[in-house]
Amino acid sequence: MTFEPRIVGFLCNWCSYAGADLAGVSRIQYPTNIRIIRLMCSGRVDPVIVLETFVNGADGVLVMGCHPGDCHYIVGNLYAELKFRMVKKLIALTGLEHERVRLEWVSASEGARFADIVRDFTNQIKALGPSPLAGETPEPNLLQNVLAAQMAAESFRLRVLVGREKSLVDEENIYGEKLSQEKFDEVMNDAVAAEYLRSKIYLMAKKEPVSIKELSKRLGLPSQKALQHIVAMRRRGMVTVDRIEGTTPLYAALEMGR
Ligand code: FES
Repeated sequence: MTFEPRIVGFLCNWCSYAGADLAGVSRIQYPTNIRIIRLMCSGRVDPVIVLETFVNGADGVLVMGCHPGDCHYIVGNLYAELKFRMVKKLIALTGLEHERVRLEWVSASEGARFADIVRDFTNQIKALGPSPLAGETPEPNLLQNVLAAQMAAESFRLRVLVGREKSLVDEENIYGEKLSQEKFDEVMNDAVAAEYLRSKIYLMAKKEPVSIKELSKRLGLPSQKALQHIVAMRRRGMVTVDRIEGTTPLYAALEMGR
């Protein structure tokens, strides 16, 4: 049986959805693998939703918005791009192929371009094969990783960084200093990696209390690094000491308000 990917398309109402509509009324053929969800703006596509779509078994996610400068909410598509870059970084850490997500700009008059993109993306996903998270038995380790990425995408730290990227890089602070894009990317990469690891630790500690030694073994981290994450997580109220076995503290996850 040939593999028919299930692709979820998040399309902004004003340009891309109208472009898809034009493809339809113009009778331009494109693969039926895409299930379209209409949003008011591509800037509303939360990274958490993209990751959740994979957890729910999608083989690919296609986000489409207005061309730069054409967003009906002025900068929505700019934020869509910043969020998209963050979600790509997270997906790359999980082990899921980052080619399973794509961001494209399609205007209301580009019905043919819409069809071309859907065709090309469908072929790309066909070449990758089914998502390991799709079907009855999703790959358990990958599933844990994507759930950790989803939790990281929800974190206050990553949300603030994405929201402030433009002002930090484009505008001077009160001392007349600006952050270079390279420096910002460095900060962002560190934050993404740290939040992802902390989310993984949280999910492990939620299943059963864990020691630093066990964490460092399971995550392939030096014990010192695992301890640093636990200290930061205790400060945030994510974990607590469950009990001491011999001289070894075991850490358990705390319920966190969302
Ligand atoms: Fe289309 Fe914002 S309205 S991307």
